[in-house]
Amino acid sequence: EKGTYPHFMLKEIDEQPVVIRNIISKYKDSDDKIQLDGNIREAMKEADRIYIIAAGTSYHAGLVGKQLIERLAKKPVEVHIASEFLYNMPLLSENPLFIFISQSGETADSRGVLVNVRKLGYRALTITNVPGSTLSREANYTLHTYAGPEIAVASTKAYTAQMAVLAILAVDTAKAQGYDIDFDPIYELSLVATSIEALCDQKETLEKLARDFLSTTRNCFFIGRGLDFYVGLEGALKLKEISYIQAEGFAGGELKHGTIALIEEGTPVIALATQEHVNLSIRGNVKEVAARGANPCIISMEGLEDVDDAFVIPSVHEYLTPIVSVIPLQLISYYAALHRGCDVDKPRNLAKSVTVE
Ligand code: F6R
Repeated sequence: EKGTYPHFMLKEIDEQPVVIRNIISKYKDSDDKIQLDGNIREAMKEADRIYIIAAGTSYHAGLVGKQLIERLAKKPVEVHIASEFLYNMPLLSENPLFIFISQSGETADSRGVLVNVRKLGYRALTITNVPGSTLSREANYTLHTYAGPEIAVASTKAYTAQMAVLAILAVDTAKAQGYDIDFDPIYELSLVATSIEALCDQKETLEKLARDFLSTTRNCFFIGRGLDFYVGLEGALKLKEISYIQAEGFAGGELKHGTIALIEEGTPVIALATQEHVNLSIRGNVKEVAARGANPCIISMEGLEDVDDAFVIPSVHEYLTPIVSVIPLQLISYYAALHRGCDVDKPRNLAKSVTVE
């Protein structure tokens, strides 16, 4: 139930620190170390390439997951949109492992791929919020995201939970391969939980940003580089699905290859700047759009901030920034939808789980 909350979405956004802590406690052993089921460990270790299959928000978590697995476990990963995989099927490696990411575990597009790859004899791991769901039952292995029921149509806590579990999987795989990595997921995820908590206390500031930037606009762009690009894609999806503002996420360098033509006086451009190695270049992209009249809203991270930034998130490990930087985007979308009189929890034309192809 919603309790004192006006909407499930707001409640679910606020639950994210608890969800992250819950994931830590479920996945750590008595020595405070991560230790996944031996079968999953072996399957990850043996695979020569990982294929992540998902839709919508879960696909966006998959994009971040690819980076985590490649950077920490040094294993190549491809991420595919479920509805396209069978039509634009990539050449598969010799010993692939498929990872399905699905909050509901019932998405028909993902299931279509799962049935097909199982028929071909490949192994599959499902990362889901609903163990016992179709995608969980039909895969060889399951990792639970422990986010608790997600009622609002727009996914929030399930997405951050998926990324946290992917970080744990990446670390476990790195260890299985004997890599000595300088990244303690328990410590880093605890910092993430504390940071999210701090952000959830800044709702008034974020409500004001939504009012200033989004109350009358027709469209909005999100830009970022590296991991921030993926978070921008998710920010745009969140905003469009609940506020009906046309929103698109782009890699920072890509707007100038065409889309910059859409920038008019006052067009909001939300830029993420949490990655040190691209901080200067994303700020350069912001200048390009500002010179054409855009209204930039920079969301940066402590240590990388500039005086003109609209919002600054607490500093967390550079690999885990998506789990934190998405929180202001979720809240800005929530308030934008609210200000525009939209039905936040049940946006038009959408269903919580999409069981048709
Ligand atoms: C967006 C959203 C959808 C789902 C997508 C996949 O907020 O919730 O984009 O992420 O329909 O659903 P699952 O994860 O249940 O497979």
